[in-house]
Amino acid sequence: PIEDRITLLMKEMTLEEKVGQMNQYNGSWDVTGPKPESGSNEEKYNNIKKGWVGSMLTVRGVKEVRAVQKIAVEETRLGIPLLFGFDVIHGYKTLSPIPLAESASWDLEAIKNSARVAALEASASGLNWTFAPNVDVANDARWGRVMEGAGEDPYLGSKIATARVKGFQGEKFDNNSIIACAKHFAAYGFVEAGREYNSVDMSNSKLYNTVLPPFKATVDAGIRTFMNSFNTLNGVPATGNVFLQRDILKGAWGFKGFVVSDWASIGEMITHGYAANAADAAKKAAIAGSDMDMESNVYVTELAKLVKNGLVKESVIDDAVRRILRVKFELGLFDNPYKYCDEDREKANIGSKSNNDGVLDMAKKSIVLLKNDKNLLPLKKSGAKIALIGALANDKNSPLGSWRIAADDNTAVSVLEGMQQYKDNSLVYEKGTDVAVNKQSFLDEVKLNTTDFSGFEAAKTAAKNADVVVIVLGEIGFQSGEGRSRTELGLPGNQQQLLEEVYKVNPNIVLVLNNGRPLSIPWAAEHIPAIVEAWHLGTQTGNAVAQVLYGDYNPSGKLPMSFPRNVGQCPIYYNLYNTGRPTDKDQNVFWSHYSDVEKTPLYPFGYGLSYTSFAYKNLKIAKPSFQKGEKIEVSVDVTNTGNFDGKEVVQLYINDPVASIVRPVKELKGFELIELKKGETKTIHFTLTDKELGFYDNDGKFLVEPGLFNVMVGWNSNEGLTTKFELK
Ligand code: IFM
Repeated sequence: PIEDRITLLMKEMTLEEKVGQMNQYNGSWDVTGPKPESGSNEEKYNNIKKGWVGSMLTVRGVKEVRAVQKIAVEETRLGIPLLFGFDVIHGYKTLSPIPLAESASWDLEAIKNSARVAALEASASGLNWTFAPNVDVANDARWGRVMEGAGEDPYLGSKIATARVKGFQGEKFDNNSIIACAKHFAAYGFVEAGREYNSVDMSNSKLYNTVLPPFKATVDAGIRTFMNSFNTLNGVPATGNVFLQRDILKGAWGFKGFVVSDWASIGEMITHGYAANAADAAKKAAIAGSDMDMESNVYVTELAKLVKNGLVKESVIDDAVRRILRVKFELGLFDNPYKYCDEDREKANIGSKSNNDGVLDMAKKSIVLLKNDKNLLPLKKSGAKIALIGALANDKNSPLGSWRIAADDNTAVSVLEGMQQYKDNSLVYEKGTDVAVNKQSFLDEVKLNTTDFSGFEAAKTAAKNADVVVIVLGEIGFQSGEGRSRTELGLPGNQQQLLEEVYKVNPNIVLVLNNGRPLSIPWAAEHIPAIVEAWHLGTQTGNAVAQVLYGDYNPSGKLPMSFPRNVGQCPIYYNLYNTGRPTDKDQNVFWSHYSDVEKTPLYPFGYGLSYTSFAYKNLKIAKPSFQKGEKIEVSVDVTNTGNFDGKEVVQLYINDPVASIVRPVKELKGFELIELKKGETKTIHFTLTDKELGFYDNDGKFLVEPGLFNVMVGWNSNEGLTTKFELK
């Protein structure tokens, strides 16, 4: 048994070797080249040789992984293999849509398959561990990392988290499955004002009901690792947080895997003002349950001394090491440390046709149709004069999105290339304006173009001569992601002016949005007849967009985050509390609202159209009252009433109007993605149990309280049929 093998091995290990397992380095030198002769890289290299490193990150490629693994296995005293971690966030080289986009599909099978494609490529490249999924619930579009999660809802987020873990980890740990990592534990999605790395203060009830469920879902799905987060939670850095890591994760949830810190987050506890120095930071993080130090370099320098001085118990180290070794044993690395190192597989799998087919499928499913007045879409396939406008339409880099470290630049199919395949139309392209004035890169701030209007005239001329204008606007790929918080959520640079100028000469516009977060586009929502939310869809972007625009694929995505009318509404989310004055019933100013804009979102959570239409009828609930513990069956008939076959996400929301802690006005508690032929009707069944009806109080106790429950089954979080029942 694995536990016995771990015990035997640990008996052989020195304290320093044990601490070494808790140390993770970034491979920032050419690992297949000569050994580094100075500086931190030399120290890293020497520490690997001493057996003082448990894992590397960012080293990838079979040749590179093999070279480093060889040192660990063949040159260290005990030959313990390394884990190789990497940010495989939405694909490896062949990129799927950014996770927020995938979440808009509400298609759990597709999301699982997308993670599988990512696992196939990453594992073929020698990797055995991804720092994904990001399961941070987030409702503030200013925060750049919303692109990486599943949006604002814990129920949808939990289902998607499960699908992603299953996709990455597969059925068993053979050589094409990789360990998943739930991050960032916890509450990173609630950084104040959406500003990156900012602090988080929140009630326990919110933590338990909103933040933790997707993390818990990953534990239930068998995830092996967690990453903690950069933020403080109620004054304590997550990295040094005993309550989160010891009490909840490893205590109440019984998690048997290990926790890796975020990059340098142990050392950053000093800057937070929580640790006095490196030794104090190492001590606090280890005691709190951070098992592996990513790039702070404080465990390897401090922990053994701390144990020898009696400041950290050796049992803390033993527990962490056991957890890390367990994952290595489970992966089978002790039996074959090179099991992921197969050059032939690497060549055959990365960029393969089937991987591209997989990400194309996911990309189409991620698109959300926000508006389609005058049935401008789908476009006619022949005889139409189309003007395609916008720099993003001819961009092969931006659609790859943020967090794409392994993918090569400029490898996306652009929208222009996608549309050029429909040859029976005339297509004229004009960029109009550039979004940014600097090169797009992972480390640099995007500098927006606000002064160059020289391309406007050509764009207007093209628009004037066209039957339909397709204009692709939005954020470039690196405007969202880590370190990319924004205080404006409109179209960046001078794209809004371009849109308005083009509209003056031809209002028949299809606006295709590229973005990594909800944007606020009130002018477009009012004036532009057709709007397609196309996010950053990865390698196959252009093909997916073209197939949707031309009706070869009928869009079915629904927003996983509310789109605000303006940035001042942020954070904005559907599952809010009611307040004591939700409406203007007294007809005066003293109610919960804004005086300059409606308080509702521009597009709500769960919203999305199709080329066909659906009618909902006969919402039924089995009986008017139920006993606690009974299953509550709900059904509804949905009919495709339009002219296309199509898919619809049927959504069930509940509301508990009186509770010992106020409950949200609505909470998603079920959904089903269905496919209906023209004219077809299906009856959709949902089951509610105590699990869906209950909630956590501020002590983390799960309560199911009797009383009335309202139910809505509908087509977005704001519209649907309603009924109610009583829980006795
Ligand atoms: O996995 C990431 C994390 O999400 C943010 N900081 C760096 C880590 C490793 O690259």
